[in-house]
Amino acid sequence: MTNPPPRFDGFPSDPDSLNRILEWTRTRILQGPDPRNGAQTPAALDARIGGSITANGMDPQAAFALFSDVIVPSTRPFNHPTSLAFVAAAPTPASLAFDAALGAAEIFAGNWDGGSGAIHAENQTLAWLAGLAGWSKDAGGVFVSGGTMGNLSALHAARMAWVNAGKPRPDRFRILCSEQAHSSIEAVAQVMDAEVVKVSSDETGRIIPTKAQEVLAHTSGVFAIVANAGATNCGAVDDLRALADLATQHGLWLHVDGAYGLAAMADPALRQQFDGIERADSFIVDPHKWFFAPYDSCALVYRDPIKGAQAHGQKGVYLDTLDQAAWNPSDYALHLTRRARGLPLWFSLVTYGTLAYGAAIAKTYEIAQQIADGIENMDGLELILGPQLTVILFRPRAMSAADLDDWAEAQRRSGALLCLPTTWRGEKVLRICVVNPETDPDYVLEVLETLA
Ligand SMILES: Cc1ncc(COP(=O)(O)O)c(C=O)c1O
Repeated sequence: MTNPPPRFDGFPSDPDSLNRILEWTRTRILQGPDPRNGAQTPAALDARIGGSITANGMDPQAAFALFSDVIVPSTRPFNHPTSLAFVAAAPTPASLAFDAALGAAEIFAGNWDGGSGAIHAENQTLAWLAGLAGWSKDAGGVFVSGGTMGNLSALHAARMAWVNAGKPRPDRFRILCSEQAHSSIEAVAQVMDAEVVKVSSDETGRIIPTKAQEVLAHTSGVFAIVANAGATNCGAVDDLRALADLATQHGLWLHVDGAYGLAAMADPALRQQFDGIERADSFIVDPHKWFFAPYDSCALVYRDPIKGAQAHGQKGVYLDTLDQAAWNPSDYALHLTRRARGLPLWFSLVTYGTLAYGAAIAKTYEIAQQIADGIENMDGLELILGPQLTVILFRPRAMSAADLDDWAEAQRRSGALLCLPTTWRGEKVLRICVVNPETDPDYVLEVLETLA
């Protein structure tokens, strides 16, 4: 008995269902998201899309309506100019439109054989980033899903470089970083069964290099230093030159976590903040943060990519037919199958040109400066820190922590502003991080007036 043919017959035999998706995609790219959208409870979602997976399927247009009318409105619109919490997103229209095409192209970009054209273009983008850091053409890497995976892949390569160099294995491997380092460093250390040694930071959140020196003098097993290039909570950029000196002195790998901040290398006026990065061993920067590209994408770059390959290259008999001498992106991080997630940034850079990127970064920096100035001049508000890159910390002079939460939630629900509290030096404060050149500083200040 033979099996019946697969019944994938409702789509796209009805051309309207494909057109509906394409038309929605087009409108969404041109109009952007609704800032009032947000999370729903599982019960509310179940009431509308529970039971949608059935034995016989449903009409494709009705299925797509579940996405457009229920799923999308139940998500937070980070790429709206009023989204100033966490590190939001601001993908260019070119990058979004291109990403839809990239999905349709279904390129396997894990190895050269599967995705040479796409990989070559991704590598051009990585070379541009490496050039901004002052690295040579020998540098290279890969785009991974996000900063967490980038940090993990870089730090695994760092430890393997230590082991491959024949250095003695300590009782415990350790990673040194600032107390302001992103939570992913702690998560990565847990995966690696390593320990994080945190060094105190100054009043602006920058690591204190003399303290790092002291810690290194009496701590064994440190194989890498992680520097902040735009600490998430406060925007601080560590003194990369001082950390490079320490790394050289102690024979350590220097990894720069610039998931958010290193995009500012594209603005010549901000580039000097990262002086010293030319001496690092690896860095990451997320195009989906401040580089105007869609989720999900993190550029991981090694100064010497062979060290990445020595750590990550996978071997398997079914892979033996692949050309090992070719540039296989799967060799440079913890993954095998991958989409060419660096291409939306490539397409956007190719379309608008690198000067537009520098200008967009400069504009967001100016917007953050205008918001900070406005906060400083508002009677009821106290500017605590910033802008450091585009992060601002501030608080209303007379408002309880509970009222602050209520205010933030009311703004979020109405779609006026996504501006959430954080903790700074033990106190609840408000935090703004601007990554969208279309954020209107006057509008933001108008909303903040309701706090004063
Ligand atoms: C400095 C920094 N490093 C790492 C990460 C983790 O990146 P991802 O969320 O892409 O995994 C973030 C995320 O905000 C970050 O700001």
